[in-house]
Amino acid sequence: MSLVTIRPSGRSFDAAAGTTLLAAILAADESIRHNCDGKATCGTCHIFVQQGRKGVSKIGSLENEKLDSIVGVGSKSRLACQATVLGTEDIEIELLGFSSGF
Ligand code: FES
Repeated sequence: MSLVTIRPSGRSFDAAAGTTLLAAILAADESIRHNCDGKATCGTCHIFVQQGRKGVSKIGSLENEKLDSIVGVGSKSRLACQATVLGTEDIEIELLGFSSGF
């Protein structure tokens, strides 16, 4: 179990190991686009993991490929549908709004 904090809302909640960040965000009633429903093909669920990056799964090849095609990607970028909570440390993520992911 990890404590996940979402910016900018500041909402915090517990997320079980194995939960994707997308599922955690949606369960917290936060708004995030996820046009391809978690297939790593749309990039609309792009977020920044501001803290606790070791507390989420490593970037896989599908996610890496998609991130390479997105403008505004940085070292903290993840696709929320591909990053899963490991339960080893608390996590802070930043939602980027609708201007990112294309
Ligand atoms: S929902 Fe499409 S890449 Fe994550």
